[in-house]
Amino acid sequence: MADLIELTLDHEIAIITINNPPVNALSPAVAQGIAKAIEQVTNDDSIKAVVLIGGGRTFIAGADIKEFGKITSGKTPRGAGLPPFLVHIENGKPAVVAIHGSAFGGGLELAMAAHYRVASPSAQFGQPEVKLGMIPGAGGTQRLPRLVGIAKAVEMCAEGNPIGAQEALKIGLIDRLVEGDLLAGAVQFAREIAGKPGPKTRDRNEKLSSHVQNAPLFSAAREKARTRQRGMRAPLAAIDAVEAATKFSFDEGCRIEQKLFQDCLFSDQSKALIHIFFGEREVAKIPDVPKETTTMPVNSASVVGAGTMGGGIAMVLANAGIPVLLKDADQPALDRGLATIQKNYQNSVKRGRFTQQFVDERLQLIQPTLTYDDFGKVDIVIEAVFEGMALKKEVFVQLDRACRKGAILASNTSTLNIDEIASVTSRPESVIGTHFFSPANVMRLLEIVRGKETSKEVIATCMQLSKKLGKVGVLVRNCRGFVGNRMFHHYGREAVFLVEEGVSPQSVDQALYDFGMALGPLATGDLAGLDVGWRIRKEYRHLEKPGVRQAIVGDRLCELGRYGQKTGAGWYKYDETRHAAADPETNEMVRKWAIDAGIPQRDISPEEMVERCVYALVNEGARILDEGIAMRAADIDIIYVSGYGFPAYRGGPMWYADSVGLKNVYQRICEFHAQHGELWEPAPLLRRLAEEGKTFAEFTSLQTVTV
Ligand code: NAI
Repeated sequence: MADLIELTLDHEIAIITINNPPVNALSPAVAQGIAKAIEQVTNDDSIKAVVLIGGGRTFIAGADIKEFGKITSGKTPRGAGLPPFLVHIENGKPAVVAIHGSAFGGGLELAMAAHYRVASPSAQFGQPEVKLGMIPGAGGTQRLPRLVGIAKAVEMCAEGNPIGAQEALKIGLIDRLVEGDLLAGAVQFAREIAGKPGPKTRDRNEKLSSHVQNAPLFSAAREKARTRQRGMRAPLAAIDAVEAATKFSFDEGCRIEQKLFQDCLFSDQSKALIHIFFGEREVAKIPDVPKETTTMPVNSASVVGAGTMGGGIAMVLANAGIPVLLKDADQPALDRGLATIQKNYQNSVKRGRFTQQFVDERLQLIQPTLTYDDFGKVDIVIEAVFEGMALKKEVFVQLDRACRKGAILASNTSTLNIDEIASVTSRPESVIGTHFFSPANVMRLLEIVRGKETSKEVIATCMQLSKKLGKVGVLVRNCRGFVGNRMFHHYGREAVFLVEEGVSPQSVDQALYDFGMALGPLATGDLAGLDVGWRIRKEYRHLEKPGVRQAIVGDRLCELGRYGQKTGAGWYKYDETRHAAADPETNEMVRKWAIDAGIPQRDISPEEMVERCVYALVNEGARILDEGIAMRAADIDIIYVSGYGFPAYRGGPMWYADSVGLKNVYQRICEFHAQHGELWEPAPLLRRLAEEGKTFAEFTSLQTVTV
């Protein structure tokens, strides 16, 4: 194995190669290794210039994110970090950084501290720290504007998106593109500049212009961050830091950056976002379905039902290059489905997301059909017909007959029992739930539901497929509503109760929106269709316990044909563009129904509204965790962040509860229990953890060890 840092010589040029696979993360050992190599270079008079390059598939793709957690938890002292080490490079012999793959975060900061940068045409550059609730902390906010100007630096530091090599060359971030052998090109460049003093980025002030000239740019950037990255503090801190470059000296700017970096690093938002970052990787780990589990190729698919979900799923498959047979029950339904797909694709072309050629190719991959005739050829079928057990069973009997042995039979059901569906087939081991979220071609979550008999190969294949489709696959066990909808039921119920107790639907939605949810719970109901829940409630009415409070006003709205957006009215009223407006008449009507039903009316604070809704999620989440329906608290968090619009900077409902303190959450739930009765019975796991002073995260890590 190559040394972590290798120093070799090509005549008078030193070459420092970083070997920290897989992504050359800038760990403390890497930084120390480079510092040592630089020192050797400084002490060797025969060396005239130095090239820094990444071994393997990339330059430095960023800091080692685990290190941040160690610092904030107090396990590792913060130390001085990278800045002094970068000054060493800056004050040393002319240094050329050669970039392929990606130069992200600390990697780009290091590159900017060198005197020159050359790159492969496919290289990527970025300061993605904001995505983890942080800002660049090694001079990035001070050096980047000096190289690329204020506007671009603000955009890169506040939004965190990468740019390609062509753009990097155009804006001055790099000095040359190297086609072909990068190292040879970099050494050639180094020979050209060898022996001459290298320009220091810190001294290049010509692109900064004055603070006054930049003022409108900063205020526009802040405005944009407040709307596009609502609730997040790091983008604003990044803008403040870049602004400091226009007001103060380089050294003072760096001091300001350090202070802002430190605040962000220790913030709850950053901890939550790092939790989500690792959670997204953790979900792929399934103790009894190891990485080595055999998977089956998925080169062709069928979708049954060309409605809202089936059409979206067909698009997702086609977008990944998988040919799809799309079946519906009759020609008009099939035509409607195809027309919707075409319209959605056209919108994507209009918005610049896809090219017309891409769309034409995808449409070619979707073959409409009214029969099961060609189903014997496909590797996976995803069923998305109406939600009803009898119909699902009917379809699965047909699929069992039509599909080849070994093909995966998946259902997109959002609530129904996967084992019961599997029971009508001769191959329950091939049956699984693949629960997409609406709109399927947009939402990242794929809840994968394992039945009692689902084989490990089928699970592993669906987890792998989720990646190919660009989704986050989270494996859960079978129960009514699985993880996401089972919890959401309690959340939505509390939102309606709040309305019945006297607050307007708009106030409830506003409180949850301000908490950070993408959409308030009642507006979400209008979007999904109020009739969906109404139908489910009617189907399960026989299971309702007498004396336990049931929401009434939601059903009343449905009885009046107010199903939400699709009927132009629900909790809100909608115009043709589906723009929501508060509806005073509805509010009055709902209030009257509640008063007539004897529900006491009172003022409720936004804080209480948030607690009622979010703690309802947490309490049910605790049950789900205890029952083993979800493997880890983080899995629940990923489901809520990627499928239900829960703010990532709060880490998902379970992480959020941990950050509030389970003792506090438990206490509040006990108060709700006393006030509102049985529905608020605290989950036993929550009580236990609160009493033991533990967190959901700790509970999960103990569980995983014992699996
Ligand atoms: P939908 O009503 O939009 O579409 C259902 C389609 O199935 C219709 O086009 C219908 O003609 C077709 N169909 C009915 N019987 C059929 C048969 N025997 N053979 C072939 N096609 C048949 O319903 P939607 O919303 O797409 O829901 C489908 C499934 O997805 C349900 O199980 C639902 O619970 C689930 N789901 C729905 C979500 C949503 O937001 N709408 C989200 C996640 C899951």
